Amino acid sequence: MNMTFVGMGYVGLVNSVILASYNHNIIGFDIDKEKISLLKQGVSTIEEPNLQTLLTEAQHNLRFTSNAKDAIRGSNVIVICVDTPQGKDGEPDLTHFYEVLDEIADNATQNCCIIIRSTVPVGTNRLTKKYLESKCNYRFQVISMPEFLSQGNAVKDTINPSRLVIGVTSPEAEIFAKSLAGIFVNKKVPLLVTTPETAELIKYASNSFLAMKISYINSISRLCDKVDADIDKVALGMSLDPRIGPSFLKAGVGYGGSCFPKDTNGLYWISDDNAVPLDLVKATITENDAQIKYFLDKITKRFKSLNNLKIAVFGVGFKGGTEDVRNSPAIPIVKYLLEKGAYINLYDPLAEENFHKVFSRHTHIAYLDYPQDALKNSDFVIILNDSDEFKKLTADFYIENMKRPIIFDGRNLYKVEDMKGTEYYSIGRPSLKKK
Ligand code: UDX
Repeated sequence: MNMTFVGMGYVGLVNSVILASYNHNIIGFDIDKEKISLLKQGVSTIEEPNLQTLLTEAQHNLRFTSNAKDAIRGSNVIVICVDTPQGKDGEPDLTHFYEVLDEIADNATQNCCIIIRSTVPVGTNRLTKKYLESKCNYRFQVISMPEFLSQGNAVKDTINPSRLVIGVTSPEAEIFAKSLAGIFVNKKVPLLVTTPETAELIKYASNSFLAMKISYINSISRLCDKVDADIDKVALGMSLDPRIGPSFLKAGVGYGGSCFPKDTNGLYWISDDNAVPLDLVKATITENDAQIKYFLDKITKRFKSLNNLKIAVFGVGFKGGTEDVRNSPAIPIVKYLLEKGAYINLYDPLAEENFHKVFSRHTHIAYLDYPQDALKNSDFVIILNDSDEFKKLTADFYIENMKRPIIFDGRNLYKVEDMKGTEYYSIGRPSLKKK
Protein backbone atom coordinates (compact mmCIF):
# COMPACT_ATOMS: atom_id res chain seq x y z
CA MET A 1 0.00 0.00 0.00
CA ASN A 2 1.31 3.46 -0.93
CA MET A 3 -0.13 6.03 1.42
CA THR A 4 -0.03 9.80 1.04
CA PHE A 5 -1.15 12.26 3.68
CA VAL A 6 -2.26 15.62 2.32
CA GLY A 7 -1.92 18.59 4.70
CA MET A 8 0.92 18.64 7.23
CA GLY A 9 -0.95 20.39 10.06
CA TYR A 10 -1.65 18.82 13.46
CA VAL A 11 -3.68 15.93 12.09
CA GLY A 12 -1.68 15.17 8.95
CA LEU A 13 1.80 15.45 10.39
CA VAL A 14 1.05 13.52 13.59
CA ASN A 15 -0.73 10.74 11.67
CA SER A 16 2.09 10.51 9.10
CA VAL A 17 4.80 10.31 11.72
CA ILE A 18 2.98 7.71 13.80
CA LEU A 19 2.22 5.44 10.83
CA ALA A 20 5.84 5.79 9.69
CA SER A 21 6.92 4.78 13.19
CA TYR A 22 4.80 1.61 12.73
CA ASN A 23 7.01 0.90 9.71
CA HIS A 24 4.71 2.03 6.91
CA ASN A 25 6.11 4.02 4.04
CA ILE A 26 4.40 7.39 4.08
CA ILE A 27 4.44 10.40 1.78
CA GLY A 28 3.60 13.71 3.48
CA PHE A 29 2.41 16.46 1.13
CA ASP A 30 1.79 20.13 1.78
CA ILE A 31 1.75 23.12 -0.57
CA ASP A 32 3.72 25.12 2.02
CA LYS A 33 7.29 24.80 0.72
CA GLU A 34 8.86 26.23 3.88
CA LYS A 35 7.11 23.64 6.03
CA ILE A 36 8.17 20.81 3.73
CA SER A 37 11.75 22.04 3.70
CA LEU A 38 11.90 21.89 7.52
CA LEU A 39 10.26 18.47 7.60
CA LYS A 40 12.75 17.19 5.04
CA GLN A 41 15.50 18.27 7.41
CA GLY A 42 13.79 16.26 10.14
CA VAL A 43 12.50 19.30 12.03
CA SER A 44 8.94 19.09 13.37
CA THR A 45 6.88 22.15 12.41
CA ILE A 46 4.58 21.82 15.42
CA GLU A 47 5.30 21.49 19.12
CA GLU A 48 3.78 18.29 20.46
CA PRO A 49 5.17 16.02 23.17
CA ASN A 50 7.18 13.16 21.65
CA LEU A 51 6.55 14.20 18.05
CA GLN A 52 10.11 15.33 17.31
CA THR A 53 11.55 12.08 18.71
CA LEU A 54 9.19 9.94 16.65
CA LEU A 55 9.89 12.02 13.55
CA THR A 56 13.63 11.54 13.97
CA GLU A 57 13.26 7.79 14.57
CA ALA A 58 10.85 7.19 11.67
CA GLN A 59 12.46 9.51 9.14
CA HIS A 60 13.60 6.64 6.91
CA ASN A 61 9.93 5.73 6.32
CA LEU A 62 8.83 9.29 5.53
CA ARG A 63 9.13 11.26 2.33
CA PHE A 64 7.92 14.87 2.35
CA THR A 65 7.08 16.79 -0.80
CA SER A 66 5.35 19.96 -1.94
CA ASN A 67 4.88 18.61 -5.45
CA ALA A 68 1.30 17.36 -5.91
CA LYS A 69 2.11 15.12 -8.86
CA ASP A 70 4.92 13.47 -6.95
CA ALA A 71 2.69 12.99 -3.88
CA ILE A 72 -0.36 11.57 -5.64
CA ARG A 73 0.96 9.63 -8.61
CA GLY A 74 1.39 6.03 -7.56
CA SER A 75 -0.52 6.32 -4.28
CA ASN A 76 -3.51 4.08 -3.77
CA VAL A 77 -4.49 5.49 -0.37
CA ILE A 78 -4.73 9.26 0.01
CA VAL A 79 -5.59 10.67 3.41
CA ILE A 80 -6.99 14.22 3.36
CA CYS A 81 -6.06 16.23 6.44
CA VAL A 82 -6.38 19.84 5.24
CA ASP A 83 -8.10 22.50 7.31
CA THR A 84 -11.71 23.42 6.72
CA PRO A 85 -11.87 26.86 8.34
CA GLN A 86 -14.96 28.74 9.32
CA GLY A 87 -16.44 30.60 6.36
CA LYS A 88 -19.25 33.12 6.03
CA ASP A 89 -22.13 32.60 8.49
CA GLY A 90 -20.29 29.65 10.04
CA GLU A 91 -20.37 27.59 6.85
CA PRO A 92 -17.29 25.32 6.70
CA ASP A 93 -14.99 26.64 3.98
CA LEU A 94 -14.04 23.71 1.75
CA THR A 95 -11.79 25.66 -0.61
CA HIS A 96 -8.62 23.78 0.43
CA PHE A 97 -10.49 20.50 0.47
CA TYR A 98 -11.68 20.90 -3.13
CA GLU A 99 -8.23 22.10 -4.22
CA VAL A 100 -6.93 18.75 -2.96
CA LEU A 101 -9.64 16.88 -4.88
CA ASP A 102 -8.60 18.75 -8.04
CA GLU A 103 -4.98 17.74 -7.49
CA ILE A 104 -6.04 14.12 -6.96
CA ALA A 105 -8.19 14.10 -10.11
CA ASP A 106 -5.37 15.68 -12.15
CA ASN A 107 -2.60 13.41 -10.88
CA ALA A 108 -4.14 10.03 -9.98
CA THR A 109 -2.72 7.12 -11.97
CA GLN A 110 -4.95 4.34 -10.65
CA ASN A 111 -8.15 3.57 -8.73
CA CYS A 112 -7.71 4.87 -5.27
CA CYS A 113 -9.04 4.99 -1.71
CA ILE A 114 -9.61 8.44 -0.23
CA ILE A 115 -9.73 8.76 3.55
CA ILE A 116 -11.24 12.00 4.85
CA ARG A 117 -9.77 12.97 8.25
CA SER A 118 -10.59 16.69 7.83
CA THR A 119 -13.79 17.83 9.56
CA VAL A 120 -16.30 18.18 6.74
CA PRO A 121 -20.05 18.88 6.55
CA VAL A 122 -22.48 16.00 6.36
CA GLY A 123 -22.76 14.79 2.78
CA THR A 124 -19.16 15.61 1.79
CA ASN A 125 -18.10 11.96 1.55
CA ARG A 126 -20.62 11.14 -1.18
CA LEU A 127 -19.98 14.45 -2.96
CA THR A 128 -16.26 13.69 -2.96
CA LYS A 129 -16.76 10.43 -4.83
CA LYS A 130 -19.05 12.05 -7.41
CA TYR A 131 -16.71 15.01 -7.85
CA LEU A 132 -13.59 12.89 -8.39
CA GLU A 133 -15.25 10.40 -10.71
CA SER A 134 -16.71 13.23 -12.80
CA LYS A 135 -13.22 14.67 -13.27
CA CYS A 136 -11.18 11.59 -14.13
CA ASN A 137 -11.52 8.01 -15.31
CA TYR A 138 -10.55 6.18 -12.12
CA ARG A 139 -12.83 4.74 -9.42
CA PHE A 140 -12.63 6.11 -5.88
CA GLN A 141 -13.62 4.50 -2.62
CA VAL A 142 -14.18 7.28 -0.10
CA ILE A 143 -13.95 6.55 3.64
CA SER A 144 -14.77 9.04 6.40
CA MET A 145 -12.47 8.73 9.40
CA PRO A 146 -12.89 11.79 11.64
CA GLU A 147 -9.98 12.70 13.90
CA PHE A 148 -10.51 13.51 17.58
CA LEU A 149 -7.01 14.47 18.75
CA SER A 150 -6.57 17.40 21.09
CA GLN A 151 -3.55 19.68 20.92
CA GLY A 152 -0.89 19.03 23.50
CA ASN A 153 -1.92 15.34 23.48
CA ALA A 154 -1.80 14.82 19.73
CA VAL A 155 0.60 11.85 19.73
CA LYS A 156 -1.07 10.10 22.65
CA ASP A 157 -4.57 10.70 21.27
CA THR A 158 -3.59 9.41 17.84
CA ILE A 159 -1.89 6.26 19.11
CA ASN A 160 -4.62 5.54 21.60
CA PRO A 161 -7.84 7.33 20.60
CA SER A 162 -11.06 6.88 22.58
CA ARG A 163 -12.61 5.38 19.42
CA LEU A 164 -12.09 5.02 15.71
CA VAL A 165 -15.14 6.05 13.70
CA ILE A 166 -15.32 4.92 10.10
CA GLY A 167 -17.99 5.91 7.60
CA VAL A 168 -18.36 3.77 4.48
CA THR A 169 -20.88 3.33 1.66
CA SER A 170 -20.51 -0.36 0.78
CA PRO A 171 -19.73 -3.74 2.38
CA GLU A 172 -16.61 -3.88 0.20
CA ALA A 173 -15.46 -0.54 1.60
CA GLU A 174 -16.25 -1.78 5.10
CA ILE A 175 -13.88 -4.75 4.74
CA PHE A 176 -11.15 -2.48 3.44
CA ALA A 177 -11.80 0.12 6.15
CA LYS A 178 -11.56 -2.54 8.86
CA SER A 179 -8.17 -3.63 7.55
CA LEU A 180 -7.11 0.03 7.54
CA ALA A 181 -8.25 0.41 11.15
CA GLY A 182 -5.56 -2.08 12.13
CA ILE A 183 -2.98 0.18 10.54
CA PHE A 184 -4.11 3.33 12.33
CA VAL A 185 -4.76 2.00 15.84
CA ASN A 186 -4.33 -1.12 17.95
CA LYS A 187 -7.09 -3.70 18.22
CA LYS A 188 -8.27 -2.58 21.67
CA VAL A 189 -9.54 0.78 20.39
CA PRO A 190 -13.35 0.65 19.99
CA LEU A 191 -14.27 0.67 16.32
CA LEU A 192 -17.55 2.07 15.05
CA VAL A 193 -18.32 1.39 11.42
CA THR A 194 -21.25 3.38 10.11
CA THR A 195 -22.49 5.43 7.17
CA PRO A 196 -20.52 8.50 6.03
CA GLU A 197 -23.29 10.85 7.12
CA THR A 198 -23.27 9.43 10.65
CA ALA A 199 -19.47 9.51 10.85
CA GLU A 200 -19.39 13.11 9.63
CA LEU A 201 -22.00 14.15 12.17
CA ILE A 202 -20.30 12.31 15.08
CA LYS A 203 -17.35 14.69 14.79
CA TYR A 204 -19.47 17.87 14.89
CA ALA A 205 -21.80 16.51 17.55
CA SER A 206 -18.88 15.47 19.81
CA ASN A 207 -17.01 18.76 19.63
CA SER A 208 -20.18 20.81 20.03
CA PHE A 209 -21.25 18.74 23.03
CA LEU A 210 -17.92 19.35 24.77
CA ALA A 211 -18.16 23.06 23.94
CA MET A 212 -21.72 23.05 25.28
CA LYS A 213 -20.50 21.57 28.60
CA ILE A 214 -18.04 24.46 28.88
CA SER A 215 -20.65 27.09 28.01
CA TYR A 216 -23.04 25.50 30.48
CA ILE A 217 -20.59 25.59 33.36
CA ASN A 218 -19.55 29.12 32.40
CA SER A 219 -23.14 30.32 32.51
CA ILE A 220 -23.56 28.65 35.93
CA SER A 221 -20.39 30.45 37.05
CA ARG A 222 -22.04 33.80 36.38
CA LEU A 223 -24.96 32.75 38.54
CA CYS A 224 -22.50 31.64 41.24
CA ASP A 225 -21.08 35.16 41.38
CA LYS A 226 -24.58 36.53 41.86
CA VAL A 227 -25.68 34.12 44.61
CA ASP A 228 -22.29 33.71 46.39
CA ALA A 229 -21.81 30.10 45.40
CA ASP A 230 -18.50 28.54 44.33
CA ILE A 231 -18.36 27.23 40.75
CA ASP A 232 -15.46 24.85 41.39
CA LYS A 233 -17.45 23.13 44.13
CA VAL A 234 -20.62 23.15 42.03
CA ALA A 235 -18.66 21.48 39.21
CA LEU A 236 -17.14 18.98 41.65
CA GLY A 237 -20.56 18.15 43.07
CA MET A 238 -21.93 17.64 39.57
CA SER A 239 -18.97 15.59 38.40
CA LEU A 240 -19.34 13.02 41.19
CA ASP A 241 -22.43 11.85 39.36
CA PRO A 242 -20.86 9.33 36.94
CA ARG A 243 -23.50 10.22 34.37
CA ILE A 244 -22.03 13.73 34.24
CA GLY A 245 -18.31 13.10 34.87
CA PRO A 246 -15.59 15.65 35.58
CA SER A 247 -14.29 16.55 32.11
CA PHE A 248 -14.96 19.85 30.37
CA LEU A 249 -16.54 21.37 33.45
CA LYS A 250 -13.79 23.85 34.23
CA ALA A 251 -15.18 27.40 34.19
CA GLY A 252 -13.03 30.06 32.58
CA VAL A 253 -12.96 32.86 30.04
CA GLY A 254 -14.39 30.57 27.39
CA TYR A 255 -13.18 28.02 24.91
CA GLY A 256 -10.96 28.77 21.91
CA GLY A 257 -8.75 26.87 19.51
CA SER A 258 -9.00 25.59 15.98
CA CYS A 259 -11.95 23.25 16.63
CA PHE A 260 -14.66 24.24 19.12
CA PRO A 261 -15.43 27.72 17.72
CA LYS A 262 -15.31 26.48 14.12
CA ASP A 263 -17.23 23.26 14.74
CA THR A 264 -20.04 24.78 16.83
CA ASN A 265 -20.55 27.38 14.12
CA GLY A 266 -20.27 24.67 11.47
CA LEU A 267 -22.85 22.46 13.17
CA TYR A 268 -25.25 25.35 13.59
CA TRP A 269 -24.83 26.21 9.91
CA ILE A 270 -25.43 22.56 8.90
CA SER A 271 -28.52 22.35 11.12
CA ASP A 272 -29.92 25.61 9.80
CA ASP A 273 -29.18 24.58 6.23
CA ASN A 274 -31.23 21.44 6.86
CA ALA A 275 -34.05 23.48 8.43
CA VAL A 276 -33.42 21.95 11.88
CA PRO A 277 -31.69 24.91 13.60
CA LEU A 278 -30.07 23.67 16.81
CA ASP A 279 -30.80 26.30 19.45
CA LEU A 280 -28.57 24.64 22.05
CA VAL A 281 -25.59 24.94 19.72
CA LYS A 282 -26.45 28.57 19.00
CA ALA A 283 -26.64 29.24 22.74
CA THR A 284 -23.27 27.53 23.25
CA ILE A 285 -21.72 30.03 20.85
CA THR A 286 -23.39 33.12 22.34
CA GLU A 287 -22.59 32.02 25.91
CA ASN A 288 -18.92 31.74 24.98
CA ASP A 289 -18.89 35.34 23.76
CA ALA A 290 -20.86 36.42 26.83
CA GLN A 291 -18.25 34.89 29.13
CA ILE A 292 -15.47 37.02 27.67
CA LYS A 293 -17.60 40.13 28.07
CA TYR A 294 -18.41 39.12 31.65
CA PHE A 295 -14.72 38.79 32.49
CA LEU A 296 -13.98 42.21 30.97
CA ASP A 297 -16.89 43.70 32.94
CA LYS A 298 -15.26 42.43 36.15
CA ILE A 299 -12.14 44.37 35.21
CA THR A 300 -13.94 47.56 34.20
CA LYS A 301 -16.00 47.50 37.40
CA ARG A 302 -12.77 47.56 39.37
CA PHE A 303 -10.94 50.09 37.18
CA LYS A 304 -13.27 52.77 35.88
CA SER A 305 -10.75 53.77 33.21
CA LEU A 306 -8.09 51.56 31.64
CA ASN A 307 -6.49 54.47 29.82
CA ASN A 308 -2.69 54.40 30.29
CA LEU A 309 -2.85 51.51 32.75
CA LYS A 310 -0.20 48.82 32.39
CA ILE A 311 -1.65 45.34 32.36
CA ALA A 312 0.32 42.10 32.62
CA VAL A 313 -1.26 39.36 30.50
CA PHE A 314 -0.25 35.76 31.21
CA GLY A 315 -1.11 33.05 28.70
CA VAL A 316 -2.31 33.95 25.21
CA GLY A 317 -2.30 30.45 23.68
CA PHE A 318 -5.90 29.20 23.51
CA LYS A 319 -5.01 26.79 26.30
CA GLY A 320 -1.90 26.10 28.35
CA GLY A 321 0.95 24.22 26.72
CA THR A 322 0.30 25.32 23.15
CA GLU A 323 1.79 27.90 20.81
CA ASP A 324 -1.55 28.06 18.99
CA VAL A 325 -3.50 31.32 19.32
CA ARG A 326 -6.28 30.50 16.85
CA ASN A 327 -9.56 31.80 18.31
CA SER A 328 -7.84 32.30 21.63
CA PRO A 329 -10.01 34.28 24.08
CA ALA A 330 -6.85 36.37 24.60
CA ILE A 331 -7.32 37.99 21.17
CA PRO A 332 -10.65 39.81 21.83
CA ILE A 333 -9.59 40.50 25.42
CA VAL A 334 -6.28 42.16 24.49
CA LYS A 335 -7.99 44.00 21.61
CA TYR A 336 -10.50 45.46 24.06
CA LEU A 337 -7.82 46.49 26.56
CA LEU A 338 -5.82 48.21 23.81
CA GLU A 339 -8.91 50.01 22.55
CA LYS A 340 -9.39 51.38 26.06
CA GLY A 341 -5.87 52.84 25.96
CA ALA A 342 -4.06 50.26 28.11
CA TYR A 343 -0.46 49.06 27.69
CA ILE A 344 0.09 45.29 27.70
CA ASN A 345 3.04 43.49 29.29
CA LEU A 346 2.64 40.06 27.78
CA TYR A 347 4.17 36.83 28.99
CA ASP A 348 3.67 33.56 27.13
CA PRO A 349 6.94 31.99 26.00
CA LEU A 350 5.16 29.41 23.84
CA ALA A 351 2.57 31.52 22.04
CA GLU A 352 4.08 35.02 21.93
CA GLU A 353 5.43 34.62 18.41
CA ASN A 354 2.03 33.69 16.97
CA PHE A 355 0.33 36.36 19.04
CA HIS A 356 2.73 38.93 17.68
CA LYS A 357 1.65 37.98 14.14
CA VAL A 358 -1.93 38.94 15.06
CA PHE A 359 -0.99 42.21 16.78
CA SER A 360 2.12 43.08 14.76
CA ARG A 361 1.12 46.73 14.27
CA HIS A 362 0.47 47.44 17.94
CA THR A 363 3.15 49.40 19.73
CA HIS A 364 1.40 49.12 23.11
CA ILE A 365 2.31 45.45 23.62
CA ALA A 366 5.64 44.51 25.19
CA TYR A 367 6.68 40.84 24.99
CA LEU A 368 8.58 39.87 28.14
CA ASP A 369 10.89 36.94 28.75
CA TYR A 370 10.11 36.46 32.44
CA PRO A 371 6.84 36.66 34.40
CA GLN A 372 8.54 38.94 36.96
CA ASP A 373 9.31 41.47 34.21
CA ALA A 374 5.70 41.43 33.01
CA LEU A 375 4.41 42.03 36.55
CA LYS A 376 6.89 44.77 37.44
CA ASN A 377 5.23 48.17 36.96
CA SER A 378 1.91 46.59 35.91
CA ASP A 379 -1.24 47.87 37.58
CA PHE A 380 -2.78 44.41 37.55
CA VAL A 381 -2.38 40.99 35.93
CA ILE A 382 -4.86 38.89 34.00
CA ILE A 383 -4.38 35.15 33.51
CA LEU A 384 -5.96 33.72 30.39
CA ASN A 385 -4.82 30.13 30.08
CA ASP A 386 -4.07 27.15 32.28
CA SER A 387 -0.36 26.77 31.62
CA ASP A 388 1.40 24.56 34.21
CA GLU A 389 3.90 27.35 34.74
CA PHE A 390 1.20 29.77 35.94
CA LYS A 391 -0.43 27.13 38.13
CA LYS A 392 2.79 26.87 40.14
CA LEU A 393 2.98 30.60 40.95
CA THR A 394 2.02 31.52 44.51
CA ALA A 395 0.41 34.54 46.18
CA ASP A 396 3.88 35.50 47.48
CA PHE A 397 5.22 35.60 43.94
CA TYR A 398 2.62 38.18 42.94
CA ILE A 399 3.08 40.12 46.19
CA GLU A 400 6.85 40.26 45.73
CA ASN A 401 6.77 41.29 42.08
CA MET A 402 3.90 43.76 41.84
CA LYS A 403 3.37 47.30 43.11
CA ARG A 404 -0.05 46.10 44.22
CA PRO A 405 -0.90 42.45 43.71
CA ILE A 406 -4.21 42.68 41.82
CA ILE A 407 -5.03 39.49 39.94
CA PHE A 408 -7.84 38.64 37.52
CA ASP A 409 -7.65 34.89 37.12
CA GLY A 410 -9.62 33.85 34.05
CA ARG A 411 -8.95 30.12 34.62
CA ASN A 412 -9.43 29.66 38.38
CA LEU A 413 -5.85 28.42 38.70
CA TYR A 414 -5.54 29.01 42.44
CA LYS A 415 -7.59 28.23 45.50
CA VAL A 416 -9.12 31.48 46.76
CA GLU A 417 -7.86 30.80 50.30
CA ASP A 418 -4.28 30.45 49.01
CA MET A 419 -4.36 33.96 47.55
CA LYS A 420 -4.67 35.85 50.85
CA GLY A 421 -2.61 39.03 50.77
CA THR A 422 -3.60 39.74 47.16
CA GLU A 423 -6.64 41.32 45.58
CA TYR A 424 -7.96 38.34 43.71
CA TYR A 425 -10.84 38.00 41.24
CA SER A 426 -11.67 34.73 39.52
CA ILE A 427 -14.64 33.12 37.77
CA GLY A 428 -17.75 32.19 39.76
CA ARG A 429 -15.99 32.24 43.14
CA PRO A 430 -15.74 34.73 45.99
CA SER A 431 -13.26 37.58 45.39
CA LEU A 432 -10.62 38.85 47.76
CA LYS A 433 -11.38 42.56 47.46
CA LYS A 434 -9.27 45.61 48.25
CA LYS A 435 -9.48 46.63 51.88
C1 UDX B 1 -10.67 19.81 20.95
C2 UDX B 1 -11.23 18.42 21.29
O1 UDX B 1 -10.92 18.12 22.66
C3 UDX B 1 -10.65 17.35 20.36
O2 UDX B 1 -11.26 16.11 20.62
C4 UDX B 1 -10.94 17.77 18.91
O3 UDX B 1 -10.42 16.83 17.99
C5 UDX B 1 -10.38 19.14 18.63
O4 UDX B 1 -10.92 20.09 19.58
P1 UDX B 1 -8.42 21.15 21.42
O5 UDX B 1 -9.00 22.25 20.59
O6 UDX B 1 -7.01 20.76 21.20
O7 UDX B 1 -9.28 19.80 21.23
O8 UDX B 1 -8.53 21.60 22.95
P2 UDX B 1 -9.32 21.19 24.27
O9 UDX B 1 -8.35 20.71 25.26
O10 UDX B 1 -10.49 20.36 24.01
O11 UDX B 1 -9.78 22.66 24.76
C6 UDX B 1 -10.58 23.52 23.94
C7 UDX B 1 -10.87 24.80 24.64
O12 UDX B 1 -11.76 24.61 25.73
C8 UDX B 1 -9.63 25.49 25.27
O13 UDX B 1 -9.72 26.88 25.03
C9 UDX B 1 -9.75 25.20 26.75
O14 UDX B 1 -9.14 26.17 27.55
C10 UDX B 1 -11.27 25.20 26.92
N1 UDX B 1 -11.74 24.40 28.06
C11 UDX B 1 -11.55 23.05 28.07
C12 UDX B 1 -12.43 25.02 29.11
O15 UDX B 1 -12.62 26.25 29.12
N2 UDX B 1 -12.90 24.24 30.12
C13 UDX B 1 -12.74 22.88 30.15
O16 UDX B 1 -13.21 22.25 31.11
C14 UDX B 1 -12.04 22.27 29.09
